[in-house]
Amino acid sequence: MERCDGRKKDELRSIHMEVGVLKRADGSAYVEWGANKVFASVYGPREVIPRFLARNDRAVLRCKYNMTPFSVEDRKRPGPDRRSIEIGKVTAGALAPSVLLEKFPNSMIEVAIEIMQADAGTRCAGITAATLALVDAGIPMRDLVPACAAGKVDGEVVLDLCKEEDNSGQADLPIAMMPRTNAVTLLQMDGEMTEEEVEEAIALAQTGCRQVYEMQKAALVSKYGGGDE
Ligand code: CDP
Repeated sequence: MERCDGRKKDELRSIHMEVGVLKRADGSAYVEWGANKVFASVYGPREVIPRFLARNDRAVLRCKYNMTPFSVEDRKRPGPDRRSIEIGKVTAGALAPSVLLEKFPNSMIEVAIEIMQADAGTRCAGITAATLALVDAGIPMRDLVPACAAGKVDGEVVLDLCKEEDNSGQADLPIAMMPRTNAVTLLQMDGEMTEEEVEEAIALAQTGCRQVYEMQKAALVSKYGGGDE
């Protein structure tokens, strides 16, 4: 099967990552993933606002996901909508298991994801960028959290759907994970697949996550050095 952009069925779009791109945030990152362009920033740990959200045993992790009006084909109305609120919530759920929140009681860590250009897979690109921004902010993590989707297009299970494939495809299944322990921290699916196809898509998305993981490590090393240095 020939994909719209000529990729093989198990091939990711081209991905570029940069760490520490915004000087006033505590941590930041920029990810280009195919035609997706995504910034993530981190503020904190800082005072909890509103105060009633504070926890005396750990930090509160809040994630905001926002699409700019010009990021999609039909201008998006500015401000939060149901979809972006949900993606913010699942993004926090994907990242929280990795963050050592217990080190920062009575504080808040704020992650803001800005989608400047969208072409399907923005939640995965956002989680991937937010992980890099958390590390850049010096927040201790159990592991990096890469994310990647697989789905079904023209009856075949394929990796990392672009917008055209997402529109014409039968299913989309994004995953985020912590590769060190194999823990899956986000798994969503829309559309229709058989049980076998779901299993195939999960396995394929995880191979995508592992490739994204290597790119995250490389982006951090190119910013900070590392390994044997
Ligand atoms: O981006 P992601 O795949 O994580 O989420 P989605 O809800 O499955 O959206 C898929 C794609 O639809 C987005 O990446 C955008 O390209 C597009 N979209 C859009 O054109 N207008 C919207 N209001 C929301 C999404």
